[in-house]
Amino acid sequence: MLEVRELDVTYGEVPALRQVSMTVGEGESVSVLGANGAGKSTLLRAISGLLRPRSGAITLDDSRLDQLPAYDIAALGIAHVPEGRRVLPEMTVEENLELGAYLPKPKARRKETLAWIYEIFPRLAERRLQHAGTLSGGEQQMLAVGRGLMLLPRILMLDEPSLGLAPIIVDATFDKIAEVRRQGIAILLVEQNVQRALGLTDRGYVLEQGRIVLQGTSRELLDNPHVKVAYLGM
Ligand SMILES: Nc1ncnc2c1ncn2[C@@H]1O[C@H](COP(=O)(O)OP(=O)(O)OP(=O)(O)O)[C@@H](O)[C@H]1O
Ligand SMILES: [Mg+2]
Repeated sequence: MLEVRELDVTYGEVPALRQVSMTVGEGESVSVLGANGAGKSTLLRAISGLLRPRSGAITLDDSRLDQLPAYDIAALGIAHVPEGRRVLPEMTVEENLELGAYLPKPKARRKETLAWIYEIFPRLAERRLQHAGTLSGGEQQMLAVGRGLMLLPRILMLDEPSLGLAPIIVDATFDKIAEVRRQGIAILLVEQNVQRALGLTDRGYVLEQGRIVLQGTSRELLDNPHVKVAYLGM
């Protein structure tokens, strides 16, 4: 469904992604793993049209994405939940969610989508009139995921949802992501938390200094000696 082919991205003259190729199939869940500065966020920004690649191609089915504006890419069904959540603190939970439905089709269906999101995240329903800035970190992450879902995406891209959360809250967040996945939405998950990410996804890629150095099923990666030493501290 989504295919990234030989992607090069640079910041000025500094390369951030080199010859990156990866795919996400319909309804599939895929992780991109890597340390700080590996290029994970850059990859998501390139897919969602916030950055222009220097070369290579990004396609969704038969549509070429890499020349489209971000708005059109979102309209094709790719939602990006950015690193650091970026909820609007002075707005309520519900106002934040409604912002996610900014495109015509999702906007027309926003009432039913809201009801669906409140079913997945009852905590957000309880707090719908609360200012987002007063939510806990875990609740803000759920709000950020909910806002992404308001777009009714085919692919939900998540940038480090575990960042800064206590282990028990990470578990709760990943359980929710698994629930989203069971509803048939493809997941592209960027994480430093390798153990948890591979527990959730079918397949993964390991990014080091802008290059994909390993790929495989989650099981294969968990058993891989390099992954064990470099990412699992074994
Ligand atoms: N706006 C920018 N201008 C210049 N260089 C940048 C910019 N954004 C990122 N970089 C550089 O590109 C490289 C990849 O950054 P990126 O944010 O994609 O890494 P990451 O894997 O998401 O890291 P982290 O886990 O810390 O979020 C880094 O060396 C970073 O310094
Ligand atoms: Mg990042």
